Amino acid sequence: AVAAAALVVAGLSACGGVSVSPVDVPETFDAPLPVPPLAPSHVGADGTRTFRLTAQEGTTRFVPGVDTPTWGFDGDLLGPTLRASRGEQVAVEVRNTLPEATSVHWHGMHLPAAMDGGPHQPVEPGATWRPTWRIDQPAATLWYHPHPHGRTEEHIYRGLAGFFLLDDPAAADVGLPDEYGVDDVPVVVQDRKLDADGDLDLSGGGELGVLGSLVTANGVRGAYLEATTQRVRLRLLNGSTARTYAFGFADDREVLQVASDGGLLPEPVPTTRVQLSPGERAEVVVTVAPGERVRLRSYPPDLGRVVAGYAMGANDTFDVLELRAAQDLAPSPPVAATLTTLEPLPEATVTRTFDLQGRQINGRRMDMDRVDATVEKGATELWEVRNLDLFPHNFHVHDVQFRVLDIDGEAPPPALAGAKDTVYLEPRRTYRLVMRFEDHADPTTPYMFHCHLLLHEDEGLMGQLVVVEPGGTASPAPHHHP
Ligand code: C2O
Ligand code: CU
Repeated sequence: AVAAAALVVAGLSACGGVSVSPVDVPETFDAPLPVPPLAPSHVGADGTRTFRLTAQEGTTRFVPGVDTPTWGFDGDLLGPTLRASRGEQVAVEVRNTLPEATSVHWHGMHLPAAMDGGPHQPVEPGATWRPTWRIDQPAATLWYHPHPHGRTEEHIYRGLAGFFLLDDPAAADVGLPDEYGVDDVPVVVQDRKLDADGDLDLSGGGELGVLGSLVTANGVRGAYLEATTQRVRLRLLNGSTARTYAFGFADDREVLQVASDGGLLPEPVPTTRVQLSPGERAEVVVTVAPGERVRLRSYPPDLGRVVAGYAMGANDTFDVLELRAAQDLAPSPPVAATLTTLEPLPEATVTRTFDLQGRQINGRRMDMDRVDATVEKGATELWEVRNLDLFPHNFHVHDVQFRVLDIDGEAPPPALAGAKDTVYLEPRRTYRLVMRFEDHADPTTPYMFHCHLLLHEDEGLMGQLVVVEPGGTASPAPHHHP
């Protein structure tokens, strides 16, 4: 069985010792797409909705006949979908049964720093961590994943990730398909590679990190999704460590992008390509015809002025998921022409500059004991972010959803005009991001901002921000070095 896998896992050796494996697309897409189950929860007497997540060891067959050791939440790989509504108080009991410390970060969530699940909230083996917070933001497709200091790449690569969907009962019905697992389907796309023993392999990735030959949708290669309605909403998450995808359909049909990281776009954006760098999400509505089969494909992404050698393997074209439409499709409502109204951007009172280069931001690597930005509660800030390298980075900020004001002075494309928490940084361009730190002052606990190419993050391309009361100073609790 391992011999069969060896064909698949042998990477091609490319220049500079960088091992690049071309994507190995299965011949048939015959595996039903697993839809992550909705996590059970119970609502206590005080109204708190409590979920439970257990990080555990398991095995997964990415390749027939090869059992690869993986990690998952409540299972062998990935995790259940958490779902809650705006205004609800939620709590999660996070239990760690892994042989090492991990953490669980709620990516895209507006919440107190002590609940954020970053490197300052490790969960030791055998321990349980119980964060609680009030959901206080618009409906969105968020996700959760580990964020242990220096170990995030490996923990996500091993399989620890899941969706966290937020609903807003007060929002208008804008005609989006919303039956979970039927016409509203979360799809996390990830790439991995295996070594000759069938173990996950993170070696030899070069400047970007590993670009793997095995691309999965919800953990499965060659998956299909049966469509039973005229329109299907896909909540796409790039849960990969390094790879950027430009999703489209094999026949180049137009889809409607209706949401970005932080929620609905003002109006649906008709498009044939949806580009997502690691950590980004997009919701798209695709229309299918009775009986047809069409594949969701990743086309070469537009990475900007990247030096070719750095983008080795990043420009592959490959299929990710097949849509199989039933002969009889239930009618879907039309998508409304207006989805939401974004709050006007407040005038920023503070401007900061962040230059990303190599593994440093403004010339410094991540230090758990250094505060890089002290932000006053209530402040609206303008962050000028630049990628000084000629290879890809992106930029993620915890706690807030920001807006891309402009890119080199030009208005962002419509897909980047809504609420974002992660944005791709083309080399040598300036991204001006506006964000408001409304509440959650806690002088003792930092939030992170960083590149979400996880090798870069782990190697130091990360900084810390602390939100204080106006006029206050940051006084982070000393970090205990293991
Ligand atoms: Cu998705 Cu700081 O992480
Ligand atoms: Cu980076």
